[in-house]
Amino acid sequence: MGRQAAMDGAAERTAECTVLVTGATGNVGRQVVTQLLATGVRVRALTRSADSAGLSYGGVEVRAGDLADPRGLEDALKGVDRAFLMWPFHTAAPAPAVVDALRGHVEHVVFLSSGAVQDGLAPEQQPHPVGRSHAAVERLIEGAGVGWTHLRPSTFASNTLWWADQIRAGDVVRGAYGAVPMALLHEADIAAVAVRALIEDGHDQATYTLTGPEVLTQVDQVRIIGEAMGRLLRWEELSREEAREQLLADDAFPDSFVDTLLDGYAEMLDAPRPVTTTTVEDVTGSAPRTLRQWAVDHAADFR
Ligand SMILES: NC(=O)c1ccc[n+]([C@@H]2O[C@H](COP(=O)([O-])OP(=O)(O)OC[C@H]3O[C@@H](n4cnc5c(N)ncnc54)[C@H](OP(=O)(O)O)[C@@H]3O)[C@@H](O)[C@H]2O)c1
Repeated sequence: MGRQAAMDGAAERTAECTVLVTGATGNVGRQVVTQLLATGVRVRALTRSADSAGLSYGGVEVRAGDLADPRGLEDALKGVDRAFLMWPFHTAAPAPAVVDALRGHVEHVVFLSSGAVQDGLAPEQQPHPVGRSHAAVERLIEGAGVGWTHLRPSTFASNTLWWADQIRAGDVVRGAYGAVPMALLHEADIAAVAVRALIEDGHDQATYTLTGPEVLTQVDQVRIIGEAMGRLLRWEELSREEAREQLLADDAFPDSFVDTLLDGYAEMLDAPRPVTTTTVEDVTGSAPRTLRQWAVDHAADFR
């Protein structure tokens, strides 16, 4: 289907469609909410803290709910046509009940999966823990009898917010595996693809591998964030053990993810250099944003 036909279909759908956005207070979900509102669809946002989520704008219907308690999702799902599903767990254990709840209400699920999922491998064969849980959720959705679109994004640019405290405190960012190359993605671009898949025809049973436009090491990333802020920032390499201690001491970083992150970086150093895809532009008509653009958009988060 051409982009014009897909957009015409979208115009018809938006008038009568209600979309549930899970993870609506997160990096990607917040953007999905904002971009969906701009299309004219009714947006229902799920959060565990409905009163303090800051989602009460533009007519968003805010609902309290926890994906760990899918029976409690029934109220949030009433009258919903389509859903954006983000997966906040490091296990797929709650997924059968969540997918069951969704299938009773929605015609299409857009799933925020992960670039860690490798094609052609069953969930239990996936080498990366994040790939295992997300592949298992993908498979359940595919078997649920609803339409689906899987988004498999590369590393989020928002991960660099882990450095915000160090950047506020000085001009040096300390970490391990500075040479790891990544094709960082702006959350607005992931959301833009999600929104097209939620409101247009032509995305059913599609798996989209999404990347940003450029491959950058962590050393490059620190420099570029500095340039966007008019500062000279530099990377200082730590050993894995030093970086591990630093992350464990960081209250904002989940202890349970420290080894997964560092193992992932070690594997990425040995893996073939990542390649960029054209999928963001193919689906949305706009090239993915650069890290420099992301850093400009988020400059206030580092001050
Ligand atoms: N970071 C990366 O580089 C990367 C790369 C590829 C894929 N991913 C995947 O992207 C997802 C993370 O997306 P993100 O960065 O947008 O999220 P995020 O900013 O980390 O936000 C987490 C969201 O999850 C919600 N949440 C947490 N526990 C929940 C629960 N039990 N029930 C319902 N909602 C819950 C939170 O909502 P409330 O607190 O409001 O309830 C919040 O909106 C993960 O699945 C991750 O594997 C990440």
